[in-house]
Amino acid sequence: MSGKLILAIETSCDETAVALATLTGEIVGSFVSSQIELHAPYGGVVPELASRNHNLDLRPLVSHALESLQVDRSELGVIAATSGPGLASSLLIGDTTAKAIAAGLGIPFYSINHMEGHLLSPFIGLSGAIPSHLALIISGGHTLLIDVEGVARYRAIGSTKDDAAGEAFDKVGKLLGLPYPGGPEIAKRAELGNREAFDFPRSMLNSGDFDFSFSGLKTAVLYAREKLGAEQTSEMIADLCASFQEAVVDVLVSKLMSSAEAEQRKRIALSGGVSCNERLRQRIRDAAEKQDLELFLSDKEYSTDNAAMIAFAAAKRYESGIAPSSLDSDIDPNLQLAVSSTGEIKG
Ligand code: KG4
Ligand code: ZN
Repeated sequence: MSGKLILAIETSCDETAVALATLTGEIVGSFVSSQIELHAPYGGVVPELASRNHNLDLRPLVSHALESLQVDRSELGVIAATSGPGLASSLLIGDTTAKAIAAGLGIPFYSINHMEGHLLSPFIGLSGAIPSHLALIISGGHTLLIDVEGVARYRAIGSTKDDAAGEAFDKVGKLLGLPYPGGPEIAKRAELGNREAFDFPRSMLNSGDFDFSFSGLKTAVLYAREKLGAEQTSEMIADLCASFQEAVVDVLVSKLMSSAEAEQRKRIALSGGVSCNERLRQRIRDAAEKQDLELFLSDKEYSTDNAAMIAFAAAKRYESGIAPSSLDSDIDPNLQLAVSSTGEIKG
């Protein structure tokens, strides 16, 4: 192979993203064109708007990435794109564009699971093989505990029974009248609030397994807000945010720590958009130190959706000798990452 760089494309939801990395996974450049403002008036992602804008933004973003990094197409050796999970019409834009570039240049194409991108993102910037560890992925669509043996060797330990952690933040943000997406807005207000003002449920904290449930918590916030009546001050909203956030953080920290203990892992990793949450990062740092675990946190830049994590996952697959994907491969909006030891899909 003459080209030494990977070009990766991510269009699974509402971010159009392009990144360049070396074949060993060093990130050369990462570019994200966010559609958040476009979808904000609707309080969530509108699929048709998302795919139409990926279609408009992607080609110029690829050109911009190559030009600003002064990379010639002849330097590309591998093309990668997210093939799922996500919105079908959005995935198709990135997948088709990537395959067209790979076919045009006659170079290998890797279709990458978006969740594998998140899963490996805490190791971006670190050299060497991916070490065995217990991983918690917390995004807008997933809450997943995965036992990782190495690249492409994943076993699901637990997942959410209903809302994902990010989804809970977004839904609670919406019911509190906060701008979309709710996660960062709640985190901001929680800084000024009292974490003990409301005693919200810690669902499934003592369930004896590693699954999660957040929909009851969301309903509890709704009732607490209704009880406050019409006169709601910004202090009350801050208290609701801080108490809600603490309930989510309590459950996430507790299940990550106990699953690492159960699987006898000495390393833990945290990824996905919700892992940007400062309170959670602090609590996990403290817990890891206390339990003498090595903690890997993804950089905030690589926690929310981006293409650097897709390039990195492709590099790790390439490095591990995993064969490229066929140009006839399909996208899969419900693509799973891992199955449990009992064969149950938890992806
Ligand atoms: O990983 P991501 O960018 O996209 C998905 O693959 O879903 O995650 C987006 C999620 C949203 O639900 C957003 O509200 C949440 O991450 N999020 C946060 C924070 N920043 C983003 N949640 C809590 N605290 C934050 N600081
Ligand atoms: Zn994501």
